[in-house]
Amino acid sequence: MISKRMEQALNEQINAELWSAYLYLSMSVNFSVKGQPGFANWMSIQFKEEQDHAMKFLNYLLSRGGTPVLQPIAEVKTTWETPLEAFEDTLAHEQKVTAMINELYSVATEEKDYATQSMLKWFIDEQVEEEETAQGIIDALNMIKDNGFGIYTLDKELASRTYVPPVAE
Ligand code: FEO
Repeated sequence: MISKRMEQALNEQINAELWSAYLYLSMSVNFSVKGQPGFANWMSIQFKEEQDHAMKFLNYLLSRGGTPVLQPIAEVKTTWETPLEAFEDTLAHEQKVTAMINELYSVATEEKDYATQSMLKWFIDEQVEEEETAQGIIDALNMIKDNGFGIYTLDKELASRTYVPPVAE
């Protein structure tokens, strides 16, 4: 049985992951409206992955005899002036999520909850990848600056990202 403190912390993370999904959906819509389907595609896959993260926490909580409690999802920003602004927001957000995952790991350590520590290792690795990917796109955008052809080419490149469903456990 999971401790009340750990249960509450995991419930907060479920909400944070769903908020992340909502944020990336908002970015995806913003790119679609601006006629940048590749950036929109990249963000829509991010949206799906965040929902998967929320479900991973939710199913884990259920498997430990906890009760997932779905809280309201706070509103998100709806417009970004440039792709660079959106990807800088993405990186800043992922850095925040990394800090939240680290905090969850600290709680799991204090609670001597070894199963939760083990589950969180997947997320710790995932956050390294999330930050690295966002930083890579920011680097590209900083090179491109306001070169229209560069933006067009990167948009084409990001159109090729495909969604990989999580492996059933
Ligand atoms: Fe669920 Fe992008 O962290």
